[in-house]
Amino acid sequence: MSDGRSVSGQLKKFVFRGKSSSNGDTRGEYLEIVIPELLTAGYSFYTWPSAPLLAWYLWTQRRHLRGLRVLELGCGTGLPGILAAKCGARVTLTDSVALPRSLRHLSACCEANGLVVNRDVKILGLAWGLFLSEVHTLRPVDLILASDCFYEPSQFEEVLSTVAYLLDGTDARFLCSYQERSADWSIEALLKKWGLKGALLDLDSLSESSGVDYRALVMASTARAARLYVGNLSWTVGHRQLKEYFSQFGPVQNARVVFDRSTGLSKGYGFIEFANSSAAADATNKQVHTLEGLNLVVQVQNS
Ligand SMILES: C[S@@+](CC[C@H](N)C(=O)[O-])C[C@H]1O[C@@H](n2cnc3c(N)ncnc32)[C@H](O)[C@@H]1O
Repeated sequence: MSDGRSVSGQLKKFVFRGKSSSNGDTRGEYLEIVIPELLTAGYSFYTWPSAPLLAWYLWTQRRHLRGLRVLELGCGTGLPGILAAKCGARVTLTDSVALPRSLRHLSACCEANGLVVNRDVKILGLAWGLFLSEVHTLRPVDLILASDCFYEPSQFEEVLSTVAYLLDGTDARFLCSYQERSADWSIEALLKKWGLKGALLDLDSLSESSGVDYRALVMASTARAARLYVGNLSWTVGHRQLKEYFSQFGPVQNARVVFDRSTGLSKGYGFIEFANSSAAADATNKQVHTLEGLNLVVQVQNS
């Protein structure tokens, strides 16, 4: 996987290559997906670490995707769903109906990959746990995808009730990737309540059977998502003040203000490295950051 930058904002490039694991085909194959990311705009405008993981898994299963009816929940930038569409699946991408800007960004992500909305893919606003008329139009599906949608325990049941409704009475499956943010969180009781059965796919076994190093993939993208660029810092802010301010969002591993070597004065920007990407997400989701009288520019560094 490699990254690149565009003139405005960031264009992230994901490269998938390799042999199909399903039929012993030995020809090399290649797919490039580009995702325009808006790093200051909120959590649905950049690709979370679970998404490349799910996309890579789908890539190894691409022989089975052609013609499948695939629905992705909580798409954000929609990497797994876009990959499925590029591999021939009939894909509907969904995100929160309450976030029209996110849905527009999702369209832009599709278009950046040559997918025409309403011809090659559908995009729909949904609210997990609410059974508005749009939800009924989504059935039947063969495969439901979700990347990093189990990040807020109060919403776990909403996600699963939607999944249970879509799976009910069909052979469809739900495939999700998630980040373990707390050892206490579990969906097991809810799976039981909603009559669902789940199985964990072990990363090491998956890596062994597919030749994709999933752990390296997770580590690389998690580290990237935990780093922030902070701009418009007052000249009075040093490493310690920067760390103190951002500690409200989670454990800060490193806080660094950049100083001019010749003058010793602050250049007005710096970097924060959190211990985990969810702290970085909480920081970027806060609309306004004010430190020593100035409004900060806060962006996921992500490159
Ligand atoms: C952590 S982000 C993950 C985005 C993307 N799947 C990824 O892995 O890059 C969670 C996504 O769920 C969406 N979402 C949050 N609450 C939702 C709800 N109640 N109904 C539908 N979508 C929701 C958000 O807009 C956001 O895009």
